[in-house]
Amino acid sequence: MVKVANLRKRFNGLEVLAGINLRVKKGEAVALIGPSGSGKTTLIRTINGFVIPDAGTISVGGEEINYRDPESLRQIRKKIGMIYQLFNLVERTSVQVNVMAGALGRLDRGLSLLSSTVGFFTRREREKARELLSFVGLEDKAGERVDRLSGGQKQRVAIARALMQEPELLLADEPIANLDPKASRKIMELLLRINQEKKITLIAVLHHLDSVRDHFQRVVALKEGAICFDAATRKLNDHRIQDIYTVDEEIECIAAQAGI
Ligand SMILES: Nc1ncnc2c1ncn2[C@@H]1O[C@H](COP(=O)(O)OP(=O)(O)OP(=O)(O)O)[C@@H](O)[C@H]1O
Ligand SMILES: [Mg+2]
Repeated sequence: MVKVANLRKRFNGLEVLAGINLRVKKGEAVALIGPSGSGKTTLIRTINGFVIPDAGTISVGGEEINYRDPESLRQIRKKIGMIYQLFNLVERTSVQVNVMAGALGRLDRGLSLLSSTVGFFTRREREKARELLSFVGLEDKAGERVDRLSGGQKQRVAIARALMQEPELLLADEPIANLDPKASRKIMELLLRINQEKKITLIAVLHHLDSVRDHFQRVVALKEGAICFDAATRKLNDHRIQDIYTVDEEIECIAAQAGI
């Protein structure tokens, strides 16, 4: 489903991705961890085409991304639903319009259209948004303005919006970083239910190792732009965690093969 080969990226001379090789199968759920600055967001942003790598290739759903071809980028982004830490919703607009904006492909392209009303969208899109709101447990909030919702509810709206475009892959960059423990658990359960029921491949950047252990069978860890752990979650013992999070040149990274 996702193939990353020899991926390299530098920002201002600093090597942020130092030759990443990663394969994620269709329907798999993978947690991406690693210290701050290790390149997790950059990796996610090369997969969705927002960061252009210096070297290496990425393919999603069997299609290699051609970063110089706007049509190729458009095709890739259509396949990918994004979930962010700060939800990236249009706060002063209704829940339903935010969800329907997912049908426009990219939210920032549709922003000006968002000022228009529910009537801008087709009947089919309105129905689909309602179905998805019901799926995420917000059927009674369709007409509510987003800025009246709790953080957990906002993340549900963002998830419904991502599903609106019928993605093959969900990329979630710290989806629970701004939520309390209870809302965090519910959001993680929802993401995993989507992964299992809808067979949508999931890659989630997470800082909470408890959430990783509770919800994922495979963990990939980045350290200084390289993958230093890629294995079953049960192999993520204290020693490995120390390796991943200790910035110490002396400690050698352990590149375990995903044995699952
Ligand atoms: N657009 C950019 N321009 C310059 N430097 C950048 C850019 N994006 C990221 N970086 C740098 O690349 C490095 C990796 O950043 P990245 O955001 O990928 O880390 P991260 O693992 O997601 O960290 P965090 O856990 O804090 O979110 C950092 O040193 C960051 O400052
Ligand atoms: Mg990040």
